Amino acid sequence: MAVRKTRASSVEFNPYTQAARRLRQASKIIREGGSLPIHESRGLRSLARGILGHLDKHLGIIPLSPQDLVPPYIIKTVQYTSSVTEADRAAELRRTGNNVFCVKAGTIFLDFLTDSGTGAQSDRQWAEIMGADERYSHSVTFEQFVPTVQQVFGKEFVLPVHQGRAAENIAFTVLLQHLMEKARSENKQIVCIGNTYFDTTHGNTARQGAQVRTANCPECNETEKYFPFKGNADVDKLAEIVKEVGPENIGFMVMTVVNNTVGGQPVSLKNLKAAHALAKQHGILLILDAARIFENAYFIKVREEEYKDKSIQEIVLEMTRLADVVLMSCKKDAIANMGGLIATSDRDLYKMFETYCILIEGHYSYGGMSGRDLAALKQGLIEGSEFEYLRSRINQVTELGNGFRRLGLPIQWPPGSNGVFLDGRKFLDHVNHLFFPAQRICAEIYRRYGIRPVEIGLSLAGRGADGKRIIPDLDLVRFTVPRRVYTGEHMAFVLSALETLYQDRGNIGGLMFDKEGMGNGHFTSTFKLVSPGEIPQLLPEVERYFSAPLRVYDQSYLPPNARG
Ligand SMILES: Cc1ncc(COP(=O)(O)O)c(C=O)c1O
Repeated sequence: MAVRKTRASSVEFNPYTQAARRLRQASKIIREGGSLPIHESRGLRSLARGILGHLDKHLGIIPLSPQDLVPPYIIKTVQYTSSVTEADRAAELRRTGNNVFCVKAGTIFLDFLTDSGTGAQSDRQWAEIMGADERYSHSVTFEQFVPTVQQVFGKEFVLPVHQGRAAENIAFTVLLQHLMEKARSENKQIVCIGNTYFDTTHGNTARQGAQVRTANCPECNETEKYFPFKGNADVDKLAEIVKEVGPENIGFMVMTVVNNTVGGQPVSLKNLKAAHALAKQHGILLILDAARIFENAYFIKVREEEYKDKSIQEIVLEMTRLADVVLMSCKKDAIANMGGLIATSDRDLYKMFETYCILIEGHYSYGGMSGRDLAALKQGLIEGSEFEYLRSRINQVTELGNGFRRLGLPIQWPPGSNGVFLDGRKFLDHVNHLFFPAQRICAEIYRRYGIRPVEIGLSLAGRGADGKRIIPDLDLVRFTVPRRVYTGEHMAFVLSALETLYQDRGNIGGLMFDKEGMGNGHFTSTFKLVSPGEIPQLLPEVERYFSAPLRVYDQSYLPPNARG
């Protein structure tokens, strides 16, 4: 705001100083037990609102009105949450070695661990559940499920599966098995490319023996800088990989929408089209990991000028049109507690998926799900892609992110579709990065307030193929927002908890391994508390531990008949 000079005195007139003086005077009067004239109270409220508006602009807050946030539903059934005490939670942390993955969910007041399978079902979904057909094959529910998926994704062949990783297992086994055999016989390596793969997507690809090489847009690492599509792939880099490896040695390309691992960040249609063009130029199969495709489509509608007049359904069809195979964990955007699907228009491919599905998931008309699961999922696909719902869902997450920014807390900006990611290293900047600052924040906020976020950082990163601990670029605390579950008051409670925690951060230290869990060790590791004063003394020991290789899978088992 411009500072102007008064004509009479030539003294600098600063509206902020003026406002501060009025606010100071008013607070002195109130403190001393006096009262303000009503017109002055009103004037000060509007002045304060004006100042807050300027501060928000200065902080780069995304402005949202009550209309942007109001959900298109009301609460009809409620579930009471835990009311255990801080002392009980402290005992639970001692029992579990300070790992919030292992605490009993009944001790958690607000759970921000994941948005997967945690959404609230609507009355329409419950009605579908009650009317579901549980007959073994080709149930009435399945016969209704197929046309719904065909309509939403524009693909002819549909296979239900019990969750996303089952879809990956079936698709990647079929797509890679033969290719891998051929590559092994020719002493070659198969490489799969894309934007960031989710852990299970990566695991299911690597399990077949293929290598995963991803290239994300560089903007996603600049956490505090605004970029509308931080989930984008770096298509030029992907093209370089194709050239280096040779197109015949590429297994497939996966585009994950939204890109969960970099903060639930969306991919633009422009970027998806560029990835598709590269894939088609070389005859590479494009797979869409569509776990959060509706939320991604919402971002395309509101951030990509060309698509602002298209409906969510039109944008979704435009996205799936670019893919040969759509894999979906329906526990996210389809607001189902369980479920997944595969969709494609390639009959031959579908037939192969079907054969493998029967072996591991059950008949191709239920894919590991009860009729009830399938019915809820079908209805969830419709509700999850409605614009009004998506607007309130994504704006709830954005407003939580706005709250973090107002408190001056460092987060991935702008917030993605499914949660707010806090930078643990910056929050506890006095804690050495090897002492799990993000994991300690999770334990601390759980103990004090009963809120459970999840660490996406040092503990999750685990060990590499060389057996050494991986030190990731970021050590984040993810506050993942379940769908249709928490209100604005719950969010206000989270923010007030974080404000108090931040004020006390100087007293919070870190963690060190008590016993490191093997494999996906973040689920099972136990930790000891380390105070800020102990860190310098313990650092050499911790550095030694981190640089020493360790085998993460014990493969020494032999059945008794094979032991010599
Ligand atoms: C992007 C993405 N893909 C795949 C999966 C795996 O899905 P599921 O948990 O249903 O197996 C997840 C789960 O969180 C995910 O976020």
